[in-house]
Amino acid sequence: MAITRTPTTLSDADMDVMRILHSAFRRDGHRLADAAERYGTQDEKAHEALLLGWHGFSTSLHHHHTIEDAHIWPVIRGKLTGRPDDLAVLEAMEQEHARIDPAIAAVDAAFADREAGVQEVAERITGFLDLLGAHLAHEERDAFPLIRTLVTKPEWNALNKASMKELSYSEIAALSPWLLDGASPADVRRVLDELPAPLRLVHRVWWNPRYRKARRWE
Ligand SMILES: [Fe+2]
Repeated sequence: MAITRTPTTLSDADMDVMRILHSAFRRDGHRLADAAERYGTQDEKAHEALLLGWHGFSTSLHHHHTIEDAHIWPVIRGKLTGRPDDLAVLEAMEQEHARIDPAIAAVDAAFADREAGVQEVAERITGFLDLLGAHLAHEERDAFPLIRTLVTKPEWNALNKASMKELSYSEIAALSPWLLDGASPADVRRVLDELPAPLRLVHRVWWNPRYRKARRWE
């Protein structure tokens, strides 16, 4: 009798980086909301610090959504024949990503226009944060279980490798300190374990100190 083996699905540990990413988005969401409260009172240097913080947030979020749309959802979609409810979840994920991009652009434009009123900036930030908060919660509730149960470990490793390849060296250099800003020591170790040893060293001696030295958000 032939033995059919089901390739193992993902464990909690496999989802760690995804979980740490989502908490980094929430961390910066709080920083952005705080910035909205202070907006209009900042000097030029403080405005530059706000732009630097916002840039790290918005570019990381954009990368993350691009990777999900290009690499993660397609793997799952291929396994959802005859499961319209789950297919609808993936469609919702893509639609939510597509709504978040213009909300990012709206905040960008408000920050770039120094004449933009405090009220307007605050409204755009709230609009963006509302979309993001709802999206993260929706993804964790309905899409994480699909990732956990339908993506196999070899597929997960392959898609993580492929998505890292799409980032330039300087994007990776910016991403790891951003991701680990304020993370627990266990989470820092978890993420650094994913990096090849030489990059782990560069993170410690160069990327992270450089990130920490720059004034951002406030
Ligand atoms: Fe995500």
